[in-house]
Amino acid sequence: MKNSFVIKGHLCQTKNPKELDLHENSYAVCIDGISKGIFEVLPEEYAELPLYDYGDALIFPGMVDLHVHAPQYAFRGMCMDLELMEWLNSYTFPEEEKYEKLEYAEQAYGIFVDALKKGATTRACIFATRHRPATELLMELMEKSGLVSYVGKVNMDREASEALTEDSADISAYTTFGWINAVKDKFLHTKPILTPRFIPCCTDKLMEELREIQMAYGIPVQSHLSESKGEIDFVKFLRPENPFYGDSYNEYDLFGKNDDIDTDVKTVMAHCVWSTEEEVELMHKNGVFVAHCPASNMNLTSGIAPIRKYLDKGLNIGLGSDIAGGHSESIFRAITDAIQVSKMYFRMVDEAFKPLVFSEAFYLATKGGGAFFGNVGSFEAGYEFDAVIMDDSVLAHPQPLNLAERMERAVYLGLDEKNIVAKYVIGTKIL
Ligand code: GUN
Ligand code: FE
Repeated sequence: MKNSFVIKGHLCQTKNPKELDLHENSYAVCIDGISKGIFEVLPEEYAELPLYDYGDALIFPGMVDLHVHAPQYAFRGMCMDLELMEWLNSYTFPEEEKYEKLEYAEQAYGIFVDALKKGATTRACIFATRHRPATELLMELMEKSGLVSYVGKVNMDREASEALTEDSADISAYTTFGWINAVKDKFLHTKPILTPRFIPCCTDKLMEELREIQMAYGIPVQSHLSESKGEIDFVKFLRPENPFYGDSYNEYDLFGKNDDIDTDVKTVMAHCVWSTEEEVELMHKNGVFVAHCPASNMNLTSGIAPIRKYLDKGLNIGLGSDIAGGHSESIFRAITDAIQVSKMYFRMVDEAFKPLVFSEAFYLATKGGGAFFGNVGSFEAGYEFDAVIMDDSVLAHPQPLNLAERMERAVYLGLDEKNIVAKYVIGTKIL
């Protein structure tokens, strides 16, 4: 049987946000890419399978990046002096214009996909640019990498630089139709996702056409929501008829489940820093996923998303790197950032909202975001087998450490950037 084996090591995961689920010197069984669970003693029925013993290494589920901009990877870690709207106009749009040229896209996307593959991320929701050829190239590269992803050709027909603005809503929609038709059945692990950049960049007519496309193909949706104050004011100006920002996606049936037309439009919205109570209620009702991107929220001075509130309400939440608003593609880094910003929110904003603890942030990075992809982010039976195996012996220490301490330290000290030994995606070894 293809992709059927057993791995042995120290397995670390979170089945729920409240606690770590740790298994020293245990076995994880993968049959046809699907986990059969974790066992202290290997059941007889699996005794004939190949066994890969990773010794003293740590084994985590793969990380899920629920929001990342591939074309912004080239300028990550630079241009951090402006807030969102000025940052887009001054740095981001000029960089994204370059993806008109396939030679540039090939080089830049090659670097991005390589980095993602080498890290702990196994799944990602990716924004490309408005350019169809470069977006298809990115999808080819992602498929070759063995990672699983949704990739979106961005729609934007107003309020961007001239070179980046599509000529009309019709042309944007027409290009999107052509792109979806070309890619929807082409790849096994790389699928299209509808990607209106955000309300400021999309005319009403374009949103109307995207609704039609979504209904025709049933594909998921990703966008940005309530990220920064300047952006939100602009949306109020552009769409005064909507009582809150999210309603302007919902009006076009691009905001999660919709009982009126009896459809479930799988949707992920990045940021939700300033969502109003009404907006949060609707996200909850519609099952919209929040992609929490703490590094980006700090770098662009956007604010702190109240993730404790969203967790307590039971919203779907994952973590995102938001390259290049965020400067690192590491989801380990996003885990520590999420904990740290929640501490600042508690101390500086509202002590009613307790800081996140490690197990909660780890959960968001694995099962939380993984739910967007199905049964993903855990070694529980029935979950797709994504694993990252790391040797933490490179992080020297004088004192004995238990497994919980080793797990937390591996994340805080960025072991994903230091010593990944192996990586599996749906049971295929890609590193
Ligand atoms: N809103 C619209 N476009 C973008 C983008 O590229 N990055 C971030 N962080 N927010 C956005
Ligand atoms: Fe973003």
